Amino acid sequence: MSVSKTGSSKVASQNTIEQRLQIQHLQEPTLIFSSSLGSDVVKGLTQTPKSLPPRYFYDDYGSELFEQICGLPEYYPTRTETAILQKFADEIAKITGACELVELGSGSSTKTRILLNAYNQLGYRLRYVPIDVSAGMLASSARQLLVDYPSMFVHALAGTYELALAQLPPSQLPSRMICFIGSTLGNLNRQECDMFLSQITKALEGGEYFLLGIDLQKPKDILEAAYNDSQGVTAAFNLNMLQHLNWLLEGNFDTTQFSHWAFYNEKEHQIEMHLRSARSQTVQLRALNLTVNFAPGETILTEISRKFNLDTIQHELKTKGLVPQKVWTDPNKWYAVILCQAIDRNYLVRFDGNKPSIK
Ligand code: AVI
Repeated sequence: MSVSKTGSSKVASQNTIEQRLQIQHLQEPTLIFSSSLGSDVVKGLTQTPKSLPPRYFYDDYGSELFEQICGLPEYYPTRTETAILQKFADEIAKITGACELVELGSGSSTKTRILLNAYNQLGYRLRYVPIDVSAGMLASSARQLLVDYPSMFVHALAGTYELALAQLPPSQLPSRMICFIGSTLGNLNRQECDMFLSQITKALEGGEYFLLGIDLQKPKDILEAAYNDSQGVTAAFNLNMLQHLNWLLEGNFDTTQFSHWAFYNEKEHQIEMHLRSARSQTVQLRALNLTVNFAPGETILTEISRKFNLDTIQHELKTKGLVPQKVWTDPNKWYAVILCQAIDRNYLVRFDGNKPSIK
C-alpha cells in the first residue's frame, strides 16, 4: 500500500500485521555485536582505573533485572517520567501535530504507548520507527503494538543508534519526532553526549522534533538510595555484568569476590557504579586471551548516570540546533521531559557559538 502524507488511518486498518510491519537489519545480525566484541573490554580492563561499557549489563537476565529496577520504590526515574508523559502526552501531540515517532532504544516500548495513545486519540496517523540492537525484542514488541493499534505502521530498525540515525527511512508523515526517553542520555559521558546530540541534529530536518527525558540534580541521599536499593536488585544487575562476560568471552570472574558500589559524585553530578574486588585476584577471559589482575579493593567503573541541570542542558541542546519548545517536570522537579524543535541545518552552519543568536 502506498502511504500518503495526508491519508486517513482507515485504509491501514485493512492491512494485515505483516503488511504493516517492516524490520530492517542495518547490519548483519551477527555483526551488530561482534564487530567490536571484546575490544572495548580489553581496553577497559587494561587501563587504570578499570572500566567496562554499560552495554554489557544487558543480556536476557540483565534486561529482566533492569525491568525490576524500574519498579523499585527507591528508583524514582521510571515512574516519574511515566507520570509526566501520562499528564502531558496530549499536549506534546498537539504541539507537534501528526508526526512519525522514532524511538531510540525502544526495548519493550512500554512508555511509547502513552505517546501513541495521545496521537491516536487526536486522530493522527500512526507510524512508529523503533530502533534497538535486539532484533528479537523489536519484532515481538512491534507485533504486539500492531495488534493493539490496528491502523499503525511500524518500520523497525535493528542496529545501533549511530547506524540508525545515519539512515532513517524517509518520513511518511508531515513531521517526525525522535524520542530518547528513560534518561539514557545520562549514561553517556560528556564527549559521547556531544557526539550523540550532533547525530540527532543531522538526522532531523528543520522543524522536526526531539523529545528527551532526563533525570535532574537532586539531594545525594535520594540519588544514592535509587542506586543502592534495599532489595539488592541493582547490586545483582551490576554483578550480572561479570556473569555475562563469563558467558560471552569465556571468562572466570567469581562474582562472590566482587561487590556492588554506587555513589553520587557531587562534583561531576553523576552516579558512579563500580564493582569492587574483595581481594587480590586474577581473572581470565579466554576468548580474548586476556589475563587481568586485581588488587584488593580495586574497582571497575561499570556505569555513570549523569544528573542534569535544566538550564545547562537546554543551552547545550540549543547550541546543537535543537531548540527547546517546552519543558515538563514533576512537582518535585526531579525529572524533566523536553520537547525540542530542530532548526534548519543551513542556519546551524552559520550559527556562531559566541553570539547566542538562537533564542
Ligand atoms: C538505563 N539507565 C537510564 C539507568 C540509569 O538510571 O542510569 C540504568 C541503571 N543503572 C542502575 N540502575 C539503573
